[in-house]
Amino acid sequence: MGKRLLIVIDGPAGAGKSTAARLLAKQLGYRYLDTGATYRVVALSAKQRGITPEMTEKLGRLCAELGIGFEDNEEGQRVYMDGKDVTEAIRTPEISMLASRISQEKVVRDALVDLQRRLGGPGVVAEGRDMGLVVFPEAAVKFYLDAKPEDRGTRRYKELLDRGITADLSRVIEDTDRRDKEDRNREVAPLQTAPDAITIDSTGLTPEEVVERMLAEIKKSG
Ligand code: DC
Repeated sequence: MGKRLLIVIDGPAGAGKSTAARLLAKQLGYRYLDTGATYRVVALSAKQRGITPEMTEKLGRLCAELGIGFEDNEEGQRVYMDGKDVTEAIRTPEISMLASRISQEKVVRDALVDLQRRLGGPGVVAEGRDMGLVVFPEAAVKFYLDAKPEDRGTRRYKELLDRGITADLSRVIEDTDRRDKEDRNREVAPLQTAPDAITIDSTGLTPEEVVERMLAEIKKSG
């Protein structure tokens, strides 16, 4: 494939963004940027330091000081917090809710959007909620990946089981839906579809089928 592009994928929790973004990046030989992980690392660190979402000044300072890093290896991507591997620790239901909550704070968004822009660029597949509208409006191809609520909750549930975390399916569906509503209705950078985004409904599709559609769209875009 010719020129390296910046590709973004937005959409609600459990639509299959991470799997699709990872697969797509692999097929194109691009780097995968998981922006949700940056919010999760801040949430984990805040929790460990006893910083609540209301302590905005402390949260701002934490974002400025915290070292967030990614490392790719054969098995996937590892996430680091001040040099410590937190790949699994940031995926618990508690950190999911806290990440959603702190991502509503402007100090956090400003700091992390800055960091994400430094990590993004041509040859990157960036995945998140505000990629196409806020972080990378210049992206060459923008996708909005959606799926029915039951599908999204079930996907999250399976992810938790795979990680050895026991959960209740109906509770996970409920949590996923609640987190989405919060992500959509917040005042700061609500989850919104970029007008130039290509929407793909992943309901009933395998990750490979989703990526196939994405590759076809990328090809079309020139
Ligand atoms: O994609 P994820 O589930 O790992 O994201 C965790 C939380 O972070 C999610 O509830 C909303 C927030 N988030 C965000 O506000 N903006 C992004 N670009 C990515 C994630």
